[in-house]
Amino acid sequence: MKNYKIAVIPGDGTGPEVIAEALKVLDAAGKKFGFALDKTTFKWGGENYLATGEILPDDAVATLKKFDSVLLGAIGHPKVKPGILEKGILLRLRFELDQYINLRPVKLFPGVETPLANKKPEDIDYVVVRENTGGVYTGMGGSVQSGTPDEVAVQNWVYTRKQVDRCLKFAFELALKRHTAANPWRGLSEEDRKAGKTAQLTLVGKTNVLTYVCGMWERAFNEMAKQYPAVKTAYCHVDATTMWMVKNPEWFDVLVTENLMGDIITDLGAMTQGGMGIASGGNLNPEGVSMFEPIGGSAPKYTGLGVINPLAAVGAGAMMLEYLGEKEAAAAIEKAIAFVTGNKLKSMAAGKMGYSTSEVGDLVVRAL
Ligand code: IPM
Ligand code: MN
Repeated sequence: MKNYKIAVIPGDGTGPEVIAEALKVLDAAGKKFGFALDKTTFKWGGENYLATGEILPDDAVATLKKFDSVLLGAIGHPKVKPGILEKGILLRLRFELDQYINLRPVKLFPGVETPLANKKPEDIDYVVVRENTGGVYTGMGGSVQSGTPDEVAVQNWVYTRKQVDRCLKFAFELALKRHTAANPWRGLSEEDRKAGKTAQLTLVGKTNVLTYVCGMWERAFNEMAKQYPAVKTAYCHVDATTMWMVKNPEWFDVLVTENLMGDIITDLGAMTQGGMGIASGGNLNPEGVSMFEPIGGSAPKYTGLGVINPLAAVGAGAMMLEYLGEKEAAAAIEKAIAFVTGNKLKSMAAGKMGYSTSEVGDLVVRAL
């Protein structure tokens, strides 16, 4: 029997509650599909920082590299100044594990209420490939005369061509893979199909203003497109993208973009799929150790009440299985989530589901 070594970082606030449900579902999937998860829990996060003064141990990254995958709950604590834990834990792990893809599916499950009028599950089903190691997140920059009226602050937006190319390659390959999925002709017209296109990829940027960095992305994109004749490529400015994500989400299949733009548009995407209770993501290092997480935060005000929606964490667990190679189990969990949203939950919002956090986990297990 296959045995996967999983590092679990439940984190802060409601993180541990949702991770408990994700693990419950993953273990049930293991029983059904014949694999086991050997889990090791790391109590890193705000609580631990306040108690010990340590954000992450020095060997944290080396330790995690020995695992097959990482499952993360949420990082963020109301008593810790913003930035410390985000940079010190989440971003540090993404960077040092070189998880250069942040994969964020935007998928409306059946029965889930979307704020977009007249949009159905078949209209909202795309994936954002967010570059996850560069851009302004690199942290280069500085300020002088801080706190005076003459203060000058610079935050550099940095990309190397290699970072851009490896991200684009992942996106092109993903576009081709999605062709064989349930919704094969998404975003393609009759004409495209006649021209031999089987997949669609949209680059999101701001080439009209940010000419150096976005110019490099666009050139790299167009050059790589030549190696993928079956992929129909398109380009959208990021501001226009937010318009179309609201007005015509059915146009999109795979979107690829740089780090901060991807951060911003995926919160919008998450809301259109029913909110943070149901939005999952993966920080991928296709050649190394990946880390999966619900994309919402630690939701301190709901901590310990048993009212938070665990489905985003459960979905992150399913993504983890998919990237471990347990595709059948991953698809089965997704189907079970769809059954639960379609037939059981009243709402995706915390406290309004009609069930407690652990009951929702049980419902998914039963559906599985
Ligand atoms: C996310 C979050 C993080 C980010 C924060 C917490 C650093 O917003 O995962 O989208 O900006 O990437
Ligand atoms: Mn974000």
